[in-house]
Amino acid sequence: MKNIVFLGAPGSGKGTQSGYLIRDFGIVQISTGDILRAAVTDGTELGVMAKQFMDDGKLVPDSVIIDIMKERISMPDCRKGFILDGFPRTVVQADALDLMLRNELGTEITHVISLVVPDEIIYKRITGRRSCPKCGGVYNIAFNPPKSENKCDVDGTELFQRSDDTKETLDKRLNVFHTSTSLLTTLYSRRGKLKEIDGTQSPDKIYEEIKGFLE
Ligand code: AP5
Repeated sequence: MKNIVFLGAPGSGKGTQSGYLIRDFGIVQISTGDILRAAVTDGTELGVMAKQFMDDGKLVPDSVIIDIMKERISMPDCRKGFILDGFPRTVVQADALDLMLRNELGTEITHVISLVVPDEIIYKRITGRRSCPKCGGVYNIAFNPPKSENKCDVDGTELFQRSDDTKETLDKRLNVFHTSTSLLTTLYSRRGKLKEIDGTQSPDKIYEEIKGFLE
């Protein structure tokens, strides 16, 4: 069984590579960013609260995220394995994850993949990112454009740009990544679970390396 964690800066390609894994391995992807954005769209209490943090480039408080994940990870579709995209992001979240996996599923994280991309490339990727609101497909107007302008290749839906994909917010998101989330690479490396991959390669080349690691 594969219980995978993706680590990496905003725009390092976590969502893109998760999409390939879902397609080929049929395991579920859990993206805390997507869960929060859905709550924002639905205008729930969680969404209203989370939006302030997200638009400001800050992390949503650990206690809120951990409660969301406890509920999500206990769902039946996680019993065949899962991909965590955007969680954990702090050492507190990583410790809580260990506990919930042990208690809820009697399992543990098996693979941690860190996509390494320099900040200057991240800025180009994030400002060019466009996403499909229907299927979650991710494109980039410079590096991975859709076949028809601003339309999803899969379902033809109009693509959108995320509200936190501005330069000002990205400055803060990268700062959070370098000060907090990057500590997790040390933690998982010590446990012998970590594979660091050069995330500046083509998506296909990165995916080849990921598949090699998962074999
Ligand atoms: P979240 O949605 O998780 O955003 P993120 O980590 O900043 O990551 P992104 O989704 O921006 O990037 P990605 O790595 O998935 O890259 P992608 O594949 O799209 O979180 C958003 C916010 O929610 C956070 O700031 C926080 O407020 C809150 N939050 C979420 N989780 C939380 C948690 N656990 N705790 C607290 N708060 C939390 O690719 C990016 C672009 O690059 C695309 O255009 C793509 O086409 C392109 N691209 C991808 N790969 C390549 C490649 N190899 N070559 C060229 N271009 C590429």
